[in-house]
Amino acid sequence: MNILVTGGTGYIGSHVVVGLLKSSYNVTIVDSLINSKSSVLENIEKLAGKAPTFYQENLTNFSALEKIFKDNEFDLVIHFAGLKSVSESVEKPIMYYQQNLTGTINLLKCMQEFHVKKIIFSSSATVYGSGNAGECIENMPTGQGITNPYGKTKYMIEEILKDVCTSDPEFSAVALRYFNPVGNHESGLLGEDPNGIPNNLMPYIMKVASGKLEELSIYGNDYDTPDGTCRRDFIHVVDLANGHLAAIKALEAPGFKTYNLGTGTPTSVLEMVETFEKISGKPLPHKFVERRPGDLAEIWANPKKAENELGWKANLTIEDAIRDTLSFLENHQ
Ligand code: UD1
Repeated sequence: MNILVTGGTGYIGSHVVVGLLKSSYNVTIVDSLINSKSSVLENIEKLAGKAPTFYQENLTNFSALEKIFKDNEFDLVIHFAGLKSVSESVEKPIMYYQQNLTGTINLLKCMQEFHVKKIIFSSSATVYGSGNAGECIENMPTGQGITNPYGKTKYMIEEILKDVCTSDPEFSAVALRYFNPVGNHESGLLGEDPNGIPNNLMPYIMKVASGKLEELSIYGNDYDTPDGTCRRDFIHVVDLANGHLAAIKALEAPGFKTYNLGTGTPTSVLEMVETFEKISGKPLPHKFVERRPGDLAEIWANPKKAENELGWKANLTIEDAIRDTLSFLENHQ
């Protein structure tokens, strides 16, 4: 089976590509390398024993994408490519809508032209919005109270996919709603290493642990949670990647489906810091500061639907994620 993976050199995409190649799928990656490095391709090959076909291209370039579809016969698409910084999306909404929405529409136009009718989309728990804090279930309403353009693009793309499925009874789309991905492949060869000052918790912790940033600011310790800090559902990226492989079978039946990919267990920011200190054996400098605007006190997945329908569930722990993060750091010092 030939699979097109957009954004396949990114943090989550690269882990999924390794899983696909190891399961004997043929993989073609289209990635602009705006937010990733071509060296990831060598590491994918080292881990999978096989190389994906690679095109450096942005999905906003319709004619280039069309040519890629013409030159290959894809059976299905896994769509990761997109911009993903919450704060940058607030500063540059047009850039986010242009990249994420135009990119997806170009992709869907090519899929329609070349009769490719199966897609897995990289969505996010952010679609549940601020009205659905706590445990999230797939049948809850989405789209209300999303605080930033990045999150809105995830919601809008889910809606577009729903409409495409309605218009074409042979089309199948699966939106996977990720909770908070952390960790990396145990080899330490793949991972997340954003340029500049990261927004997300784990990349920030990594910069502090490697001495590149002085200390972690924990945003708020006065939430209505057991230790006062926010709680999230941190899921190991290798578990998350396996969720995509499991979702391929859900594409056999046409229609639009959504699945939460999370562990079902929330962990607080402070617990994350303390576990990191325990496993690394070193203190992680941190201080408590004001709440970050837009943060929910707690949000976690109900992962039962993925377990029941896909036979998938998360197996790795935050300890595993931290151990693997430390080996990635060793490789990238
Ligand atoms: C955010 C996005 C989510 C996106 C995800 C990617 C929103 C509201 N959230 O989730 O859509 O999919 O990133 O992983 O759109 N924290 C600190 N100090 C830091 C960084 C984070 O205390 O330096 C805290 C935050 O306040 C939060 C927790 O750590 O409570 C997790 O933050 P983060 O990693 O940014 O993820 P989310 O905000 O949950």
